[in-house]
Amino acid sequence: MAETIIQPPIEFETPRLRLRQWRESDLAPFAALAADPEVMAFLLPLPTRADSDALASSLKARIAANGWGLWAVEHKDSGEFAGFTGLNAPLAALPFSPCVEIGWRFARQWWGQGLATEAARGALQVGFERLGLDEIVAFTALGNLRSAAVMERIGMHEDLPGAFDHPSVPEGHALRRHRLFRIGRPRR
Ligand SMILES: CC(C)(COP(=O)(O)OP(=O)(O)OC[C@H]1O[C@@H](n2cnc3c(N)ncnc32)[C@H](O)[C@@H]1OP(=O)(O)O)[C@@H](O)C(=O)NCCC(=O)NCCS
Repeated sequence: MAETIIQPPIEFETPRLRLRQWRESDLAPFAALAADPEVMAFLLPLPTRADSDALASSLKARIAANGWGLWAVEHKDSGEFAGFTGLNAPLAALPFSPCVEIGWRFARQWWGQGLATEAARGALQVGFERLGLDEIVAFTALGNLRSAAVMERIGMHEDLPGAFDHPSVPEGHALRRHRLFRIGRPRR
């Protein structure tokens, strides 16, 4: 199902958030998030504005091509860009590929309100109910306890023997070792 082309792209809302296609106006707040060492503590750096713009534009292109992806997250009350959340077919060959992962990244001021969990629940629902996926995975560097906590809150289970070295992270790098979580399509 991951290859199904959906036009127009899926966009959706949760009680507090809108998950939508990326816009030009997201680029500046996304660059600010990418320049925050606390946000990027467990991620490979995006050192320049050009790098963060390029990532946003590739996420936008994948949503345009597939109809789903890592959506920009807008806080409905304020209209502000908060980060991204969504589904992604990793380009790197991982030990459990092919797969669809769920992922998230929020600016620091939006942490601690349950927004990542809320956005992720919406993305899981899209993955299972609209895309017909059988399983969604998530993975994170060992020390990223906040991200692992989101995985647990949305009902994912850790695949302990599935821990792996991420091939996109250089050998010997502190972030190379990853934990793997999985969730299957809910039974009815
Ligand atoms: C990972 C990340 C998205 C988690 O954000 P978060 O705010 O901790 O997660 P949630 O949105 O689920 O919020 C949970 C917190 O909000 C609190 N909360 C407040 N109101 C809440 C509500 N209405 N519903 C649920 N939780 C609520 C919870 O108690 C919890 O608090 P705690 O952190 O003190 O335990 C965020 O830390 C981040 O963007 N990190 C940087 C990027 C990154 O590492 N991405 C993942 C790469 S694998």
